[in-house]
Amino acid sequence: MMNDQAQALRRLVKSKRSDANDAPPHEHPKSGGARVVTVTSGKGGVGKSNFTLNFALSLQEAGYRTLVFDADIGMANIDVLLGSPASSNLVHVVQQRKTLQDIIQIGPLGMHYIPGGSGFQDLLELPSEQIDKLLTEMESWSERYDIILFDTGAGLSKETIRFILAADETFVVTTPEPTAIADAYALIKIVNGMGHGTDFRLVVNRAADWKEGSQTAERLSSVARRFLHQSIPTLGVLYDDPHVMQAVKKQTPFCLLYPQSKASLQIRELAKSYINGSDPAEPNGGVKQFIRNWLRRWSS
Ligand SMILES: Nc1ncnc2c1ncn2[C@@H]1O[C@H](COP(=O)(O)OP(=O)(O)OP(=O)(O)O)[C@@H](O)[C@H]1O
Ligand SMILES: [Mg+2]
Repeated sequence: MMNDQAQALRRLVKSKRSDANDAPPHEHPKSGGARVVTVTSGKGGVGKSNFTLNFALSLQEAGYRTLVFDADIGMANIDVLLGSPASSNLVHVVQQRKTLQDIIQIGPLGMHYIPGGSGFQDLLELPSEQIDKLLTEMESWSERYDIILFDTGAGLSKETIRFILAADETFVVTTPEPTAIADAYALIKIVNGMGHGTDFRLVVNRAADWKEGSQTAERLSSVARRFLHQSIPTLGVLYDDPHVMQAVKKQTPFCLLYPQSKASLQIRELAKSYINGSDPAEPNGGVKQFIRNWLRRWSS
């Protein structure tokens, strides 16, 4: 079993070497393979899934081929937010009735997504031959997408840690509530203690105004600087906007239903600044690095 994984790893390392991997680390996401981002939070219900979906749609709108992977174990959300329950999801992949490719759905604006469904945990416990097959499928995503976003559940499950450690970068979503900030900090601290230079970016959601948003970001980043010696750059601030809840109730992404709402204008700006960011996350290993990291977790 382990041997198969080692083989897959070698194959990946080989293909990584042979492709144009000499690109500068600060490359534009569109110019290389897909960038892999994990979206997570310490506290639950802070707006991860809404953020992920609307951020993905904003990227898609800007011309980036985007895939959203609903990696929230047991509490699939993305298809609910889209109002289109998928007939097949990760459970069918686990049961070997479908391939990953089979269950990819085409969402609004041509954005792709993988519906979760309960059973994702099992996906991580499949026999290694089957995992190899899945990873081989995922390899092809490198060329097919510019950005892949994993929407995880709240808190640090084993699975979420694996996604965080494997991705190019991790967005931590928090609200201005002290409990959410404390939980976000705890999450960063735990991951930090694992000794991987994880690239975190902070998203402050549901801020009452700009001041509250930047104060929240400053609170978290100053503690991280002081105690973890790590800088946590802020990706952006989104205001508390009643349109978000209204859109959730109508099961339509807020950026499509209320394109002129504050939250929509802000998330589009946020996507733009992410795209144009003078300091995109590094190292930018993309899908192949993601898979290698994932396998490394396995065999350790
Ligand atoms: N910017 C916002 N303004 C107002 N309400 C918001 C905003 N963002 C999120 N919400 C509210 O928070 C609710 C929860 O959001 P969402 O499901 O995206 O959170 P989550 O972090 O993914 O939750 P979970 O941890 O359960 O996965 C939404 O249904 C909406 O009512
Ligand atoms: Mg969610």
